[in-house]
Amino acid sequence: MGGAAANGAANWAAIDGAGRPTLAEIFTAEPDRLSRLALDEAGIRFDWSKTHLTAGLIDGFAALADAAGLAGARDAMFAGKPVNVTEGRAAEHCAERGEGSPESVMRARALHARMRALIDAIEADAFGPIRHVLHIGIGGSALGPDLLVDALGRDSNRYDVAIVSNVDGAALEEAFARFDPSATLLAIASKTFTTTETMLNAESAIEWMAEAGVEDPFGRIVALTAAPDQAVAWGVDETRVLPFSESVGGRYSLWSSIGFPAALALGWNAFEELLEGAAAMDRHFRLAPWRANAPVLAAFADLYYAQVRGCETRAVFAYDERLRLLPSYLQQLEMESNGKRATADGRPLDRPSAPITWGGVGTDAQHAVFQLLHQGTHLVPVEFVAAIEPGDALAEDHHRQLLINCFAQGAALMAGRASEDAARDYPGDRPSSTILLDRLDPSTLGALIAFYEHRTFANAVMIGINPFDQFGVELGKEIARSIGSEGTARFDASTRALIDRAGLGG
Ligand code: F6P
Repeated sequence: MGGAAANGAANWAAIDGAGRPTLAEIFTAEPDRLSRLALDEAGIRFDWSKTHLTAGLIDGFAALADAAGLAGARDAMFAGKPVNVTEGRAAEHCAERGEGSPESVMRARALHARMRALIDAIEADAFGPIRHVLHIGIGGSALGPDLLVDALGRDSNRYDVAIVSNVDGAALEEAFARFDPSATLLAIASKTFTTTETMLNAESAIEWMAEAGVEDPFGRIVALTAAPDQAVAWGVDETRVLPFSESVGGRYSLWSSIGFPAALALGWNAFEELLEGAAAMDRHFRLAPWRANAPVLAAFADLYYAQVRGCETRAVFAYDERLRLLPSYLQQLEMESNGKRATADGRPLDRPSAPITWGGVGTDAQHAVFQLLHQGTHLVPVEFVAAIEPGDALAEDHHRQLLINCFAQGAALMAGRASEDAARDYPGDRPSSTILLDRLDPSTLGALIAFYEHRTFANAVMIGINPFDQFGVELGKEIARSIGSEGTARFDASTRALIDRAGLGG
């Protein structure tokens, strides 16, 4: 075993073997806990004090981070080195917000300028009086823009945006029913410009426009892609192709031209504020020591619960209607990045990979799934995300109730309440972290998303995973392609019967 690997194993042994005091015991033993485990960064309060991370465990994880080479990996990512080793690529999403190698930042700025020029032209009615933007993409080409527009675009009267991802025609029909085809711009978002669902949805949207009498539907298409040649070959005019770099991963791409519908709906200034907020978090991740580094402390807590306490899931609850899409955004970011069974250098992983991310919106979730969190047999680390400033204009009572409920849940999970009656007994000692934004705006949302990206990266490095590939999605795509085209003989009896029953056998 090499030096770093041996150190890593020794660090894990120390972490695995550490005592397991309760949260109440930890608070008593560490009176200064809040000052160490609550950080204020980029307009956001992060509080990990209600987790089981003791001062000793934090020392252990900090040593593990060193043994795993977290600082070197982080610096290599920012420097544009090929940290995506299995695909031989850099991971340059930070360059999109100005934090990367000078060449990658320059390239990103030029591409943003091109995007801005096109937005200016659309605003100046160069494509006619556009009111609707139909954005078609899936996975990383949809979840990010959807989150941004839903979170920040509610009061905007600029453009009405629909993000359609599912190949189920019902999704597209919903947008068709809302939009006037003669006032619609079609944004086709696909890093590869080959994704089956996206290309089929795009063809149907063009047909919808043509059938409604739009003279030149192709003249209303904007392509957002890292494969500009592919988009041009497909029929999009080169002047309306907004490229982004191949080294920006799909689930890290909302900062690039994939963010086009958000920049249109929110305005260019808001989009720039989003990038600046993310850049502030990039600088924090690059410069803060591990013990005061928000993404790294979050990763320590994630690793503790997944690796030591055997938690197979983690739950995120947005106590803010505007952030209702955050859990599904995080599901792709965290599970597609770190749901792997091999290390970056090709060995089988000898510890669990990322837990399952799930969640919902508070207060709704309290009346649906919190029963299990309080009294079920599974230990689930919970994360609360809220904003101090309300996002609505109703009487203060609403927001007050929202925040009170959020804080009450964290307190209840930790404190529990003993009862002689087993059905009414709350064990307590259940961990939660709280992320409290001063207000939800482009800058804090940018910082929040960048925080999650770096947390995912820190987790990956400390378990030895490459977070930037996703080979696990390929097999299903290949099989889907072959169904109908090759007959059904190669499939198992159950799949054959389902295909036949639905009349897809060909
Ligand atoms: O199948 C998974 C995936 O490749 C994601 O990683 C990606 O975000 C999504 O599909 C969409 O891919 P594309 O942007 O190339 O259409």
